[in-house]
Amino acid sequence: MHIIARRSWEIAEACATPEEVFLNRRHFLAKAGLGAGLIAGVASGFVPLGARAQGQPAKGPADRYPAPRNAAYKLDRDLTDEDVSSTYNNFYEFGSHKRIYKAAQEMKLKPWQIRIDGLVEEEMILDIDDLLAKVDLEERLYRHRCVEAWAMAVPWTGFALADLVRLARPKAGASHVRFQTFFDPDVASGQRQSWYPWPYTEGVTMAEATNELAFLVTGVYGKPLAAQFGAPLRLALPWKYGFKSVKSISRITFTSERPTSFWQAVGPKEYGFWANVNPEVPHPRWSQASERLLGTDETVPTRLFNGYGEQVAAIYRGLEGQPLYR
Ligand code: MTE
Repeated sequence: MHIIARRSWEIAEACATPEEVFLNRRHFLAKAGLGAGLIAGVASGFVPLGARAQGQPAKGPADRYPAPRNAAYKLDRDLTDEDVSSTYNNFYEFGSHKRIYKAAQEMKLKPWQIRIDGLVEEEMILDIDDLLAKVDLEERLYRHRCVEAWAMAVPWTGFALADLVRLARPKAGASHVRFQTFFDPDVASGQRQSWYPWPYTEGVTMAEATNELAFLVTGVYGKPLAAQFGAPLRLALPWKYGFKSVKSISRITFTSERPTSFWQAVGPKEYGFWANVNPEVPHPRWSQASERLLGTDETVPTRLFNGYGEQVAAIYRGLEGQPLYR
């Protein structure tokens, strides 16, 4: 077993930026001016497809916290301290290192709209507050395992992704759900790095999306999400490597095709669609057998499906031939 230990001043392993990207960065930097121009040209807001419900009082998001804890989700470790987890983040929109929390505060969180489209009965654009008015919030204690072999445990607040699927009314042909992060290179300097396939995209199958563990997160530590955690809406898929838990979602598309995710597009030899946590299958560049807990730096063994096999293993029966860890 070999874990790459890095000192704080060393460049982050990144989620984890594949070698080719690091090596080619200088070359791409030379082209960045052109890339930024192209990006500015395609950056645009959504055109609302449905009228916002009239006369509904906008619920103040802060009124909903802390939400009742769902005791079904237990931890085998202490919660990670908030000052640790909120200052060590992966959010490439704001830079390819862990100290993005200050830059992320520049995000414009109000108004925030989420477009729901593709194979649904009716496409819609919902304001985040209108969406939250339609769901019950609860708190769940979840483990989070990054593909880079660090881990944390946090009290997310949110609602089941299955509730959103129900609200969206997908058509029979929808087999997958694709999630997209906002695109605003004026605010998110990382999105000016034209060698990345912005906007950040992730996807799951319908069976995964409707699994009880799949959680849309709106808060953490009993408060609305801080920007660096992916406000105002992010995913938590605790049995998968952390990069599947897409932040700051602005579009959810139901589709009949398997989506290509951001990291798959960046490094197809290193990242795949499934990305289920599996300690027995090393990343091409490091072991996945154990993980470093943020805060204490203790090293603990990594568990298959990050310890959530009881809830999710059934999804993958019959798919054994596929590289489910990638
Ligand atoms: N979502 C977006 N939009 N951009 C990102 O760079 N990084 C992913 C995931 N979601 C990322 C993202 C990775 S690699 C991890 S490990 C988690 O967010 C980190 O979540 P945290 O910063 O809340 O710990």
